[in-house]
Amino acid sequence: MSEEKTTKKIDLSRPTGTRDFLPDDMRKHRHVEKIVRKLLESLGFEEIMTPMFEFFDLFLVRSGEKFREDVFTFTAPKYQAGGENKDISPEDARTFVLRPEFTAPVCRFYIQSDLNTMPKPLKIFYVGPVFRYDKPAPGRYREFFQFGVEMFGIQGAIADAEVMCVAASIIKKLGIKDYVLRVNDLNILRELLLDNDVNEEIQDKIIGMMDKANGDMIKFRLGLLDDETPESIENRFVDDLHDLDLVEGLITILHQFLYLNGNYTDILPKAKELLEGNKRAVQALESSNLLEVEPLLEAAGITSRVIDLSLARGLDYYTGLVFEIDSPSLGKQKQICGGGRYDHLIHEFGGDETPATGFAFGLDRLVLAAEANGALVQDTGMARADVYLYAFTPELVVETFKVQERLVDEGFHVELNVTEWGVKRALQFASKLGFHFAMLLGKEFRDGNIVLKDLKTEQQQILTLDEAIDAMKQALTAPPP
Ligand code: HAM
Repeated sequence: MSEEKTTKKIDLSRPTGTRDFLPDDMRKHRHVEKIVRKLLESLGFEEIMTPMFEFFDLFLVRSGEKFREDVFTFTAPKYQAGGENKDISPEDARTFVLRPEFTAPVCRFYIQSDLNTMPKPLKIFYVGPVFRYDKPAPGRYREFFQFGVEMFGIQGAIADAEVMCVAASIIKKLGIKDYVLRVNDLNILRELLLDNDVNEEIQDKIIGMMDKANGDMIKFRLGLLDDETPESIENRFVDDLHDLDLVEGLITILHQFLYLNGNYTDILPKAKELLEGNKRAVQALESSNLLEVEPLLEAAGITSRVIDLSLARGLDYYTGLVFEIDSPSLGKQKQICGGGRYDHLIHEFGGDETPATGFAFGLDRLVLAAEANGALVQDTGMARADVYLYAFTPELVVETFKVQERLVDEGFHVELNVTEWGVKRALQFASKLGFHFAMLLGKEFRDGNIVLKDLKTEQQQILTLDEAIDAMKQALTAPPP
């Protein structure tokens, strides 16, 4: 009995906020990644890796239950199938999360591994995909790539400045001219809130609101918000602050913070005046690492920088100096890097008190910024392009496999004809893909010779394999094997 065939239409759409990468996209990503890896290694950072998923509880410690709405969580298949089934291991019954960032997983890893006994300051870096349930937009994805660094076991402004300089070196190395570094010391805000008896939970809420208002203000200044004005942004911010039942004097100061951004010499005196009477906040300002970091950033040639007292950062673990780097040509998704000091997170996870600071770049945005700055032009050519191997007869195909092996050992990029095409068509194909040479195995091979054809000049010669290799090396300055 013949089975009736049914053609079922499959939905081929990708999940929202994810992307496929063409070879050209991959080449750009790998090019940027290669430059970054090399630079970080030359600055003494060593690469580590953590799993792509973690237990959700890890993120609950700092971010709370609300964080569930911002990430992708799942449970083990057996748990989903079995519900209360007693065969299910306690692990399978727990909620997992696709990592939304690296800092918390890296701190977990630090506590559990040899990292915590390695000599300090310890400098590490990582590269990999992360997942967030963000609203997709150009430059904002649900799966994207981050690379970042963390420096453990060192307090103070020199480490803060060094981390910012490493981030700036990456940008400079990639030829990105259009960038601004914004820096703040979250201690000032936290101490101001303590001066006004605001508890830690409300502090985190205020920091979240400030982060949003700050981001909107910057986007407005860059002409990126059509439906907002500074008044609408500040009114919303102030209304939200009123909802928290804060005293009027504090609301006025927080409101003014939105406008305290600019040159260091302008901003700090203004901040001091505004904070008058708030003893802890004034003390935090006068002893801030911002003061020490300023000449170090100047010495490192980071001229495009501002102090921004409302820069609050969206994540909850920061304790001191924080920073962001924008590349304004990217529009709304202009933030290419964010980071700062988080001196208590390791202790909160159950480890020893360990000061720490670091940053992460969005690799995708960095690629876009490098491209927008014209810095990726030289790397858009084909990666395959030395020599194309062709056999005139089926019996000689086996020889092309041997020759391919030899050419790979010699360091050439080589591709072997896998079609049944005639020589004309095969050579047209090789020329189209940008191959410099074609090596043809025909009747000359009986005497140990091949035909080497230069596809750029159309000239060909009969040579031994050794002679052909020498000729190609000369022409290509091929890398050593
Ligand atoms: P973050 O600011 O949340 O910081 O993310 C770092 C960077 O990831 C951002 O500056 C941005 O370039 C990129 N990014 C964030 N969300 C998206 C998205 N939806 N699509 C594309 N790119 C995105 C952190 O993740 C901290 N762990 C950084 C850190 C390390 N702090 C201390 N150490």
